Amino acid sequence: MSKDLRYFLQTVKAAGKEYYVEVKKPLKPKFEKDVLQLKLDKSGSFPVIYCHKIEGSEIPLVSNFFGSYDLMGMALDMKPKANKEDIFHEFRRRMEKPIPEKTVPASKAPVKEVILRGKDVDLGLLPINHHNELNSTKYVTIGNTVCRNPNTGVINVGVYRHELKGKDKLGVWTAPANHGAYHARRYAELGKPMQIAIFIGHHPAAVLGALSAGPMDNNEFTVMGGLLGEPIEVTPTETADLFVPAYAEIVLEGVIDPKNMTTDGPFSEWPGYYGVPGKCYVMDVKCMTMRHDAIYHDLAPAQREHCISGVLGFTSRVYDAVKAVVPTVKDVYLPFSGRHDMIAYVSIAQRVPGEAKRAGLAAVNADACIRLAVVVDEDIDVFDEEQVIWAIATRCVADIDIDVITRLMGGTLNPTSYDESRQKRGPMNSKIVINATKPIELPFPTRVSPPKNLWKSMKLEDYIE
Ligand SMILES: Cc1cc2nc3c(=O)[nH]c(=O)nc-3n(C[C@H](O)[C@H](O)[C@H](O)COP(=O)(O)O)c2cc1C
Repeated sequence: MSKDLRYFLQTVKAAGKEYYVEVKKPLKPKFEKDVLQLKLDKSGSFPVIYCHKIEGSEIPLVSNFFGSYDLMGMALDMKPKANKEDIFHEFRRRMEKPIPEKTVPASKAPVKEVILRGKDVDLGLLPINHHNELNSTKYVTIGNTVCRNPNTGVINVGVYRHELKGKDKLGVWTAPANHGAYHARRYAELGKPMQIAIFIGHHPAAVLGALSAGPMDNNEFTVMGGLLGEPIEVTPTETADLFVPAYAEIVLEGVIDPKNMTTDGPFSEWPGYYGVPGKCYVMDVKCMTMRHDAIYHDLAPAQREHCISGVLGFTSRVYDAVKAVVPTVKDVYLPFSGRHDMIAYVSIAQRVPGEAKRAGLAAVNADACIRLAVVVDEDIDVFDEEQVIWAIATRCVADIDIDVITRLMGGTLNPTSYDESRQKRGPMNSKIVINATKPIELPFPTRVSPPKNLWKSMKLEDYIE
């Protein structure tokens, strides 16, 4: 069996209630699923959520595939409760081993069981949700958009938001620096329409491949193969010169006119605020294909899964940037308090004075979104925020160890990037580097720790009932 959305559902179902819950009561497509998901989150529970019925559609919906690190580990075939460090390194191992895709005919592709063309196309068949009160309308939030680089013909896949604009019309919002946007601009220069196909619903490892940010001509199907640990099976689309995964749940094929842009939004974004309306393309949906019992994959925007789905890629970029200047980097963690990409905690084994600052500068420069880097010694567990804050409280002398780097490129969706300078020079942001390491050139008090042998040998249950 090819790994697909159903394979992952079986995995989380088998792992128990902590990882999979079902909602049998019908839900309204406005807000209700997202409120349930947030209530679960606030109660410390992050399961995959399977909703049998969203009013107005016959297609069930799943959400929260990326609700926790734990689920990300399971997407990479790890056992539940793997630690975050191991999950990160497993992700890196798989990213380094891309596996080419395998082409199969339409007759072997479950996603071709139902084919709707032309006037039969009706996006109203799908349980697309209106997620948050001030969002303009309903959005497809975790569609994987396939297109081709018009210069080289290489396939590109990215996740973009899609505002529902009509029975057969969807918005396509691509951040200007993403490859999808480069390709759209080139199609516009060539005066050609841009064919795209959005596939919805696959194994989360495949979606992580779509989210990966490698070089422009990295075919993301091969990245997906590496992350899945097997080739992804793809099949030709019906109306375009493209391929889509044969084991996807739903595919929307169509074209955009890259010379015409309109606006979408407001939309609830990952930093936890509504983003201002953006300039987007419009897709004319020419054909829908799906399984006869298709399952729709949704993602709750501005909730934990929106942020966590990209964290392994972001962490990897920071890790590589720091390692290039400080080879003794131990761990990197981007916590949810920084929505998994604005704050980086970095631990290093400092050998030379000044390394901490270099590591911090490399971290804030690794991605426009990173605003704050805290560098700690290797005895501090970066995955434990309490320890990081303790290191700041006890190892950082503010006037010496905190640097503010003014006006670097900022993340477009961070509200603090929207100052007057944005109008003139693009989104700008100031960055903070905190050195919370012990000064290795000076004497420093010894940390209080329990005797190592007793810490290992004494078991609570041997002493306390
Ligand atoms: C849940 C989620 C939603 C995203 N939505 C968008 C989006 O609407 N537009 C966009 O350009 N990037 C979005 N991204 C980021 C891109 O998917 C990501 O940068 C990807 O690598 C882009 O691929 P590309 O460079 O091949 O175009 C989103 C990421 C996540 C995790």
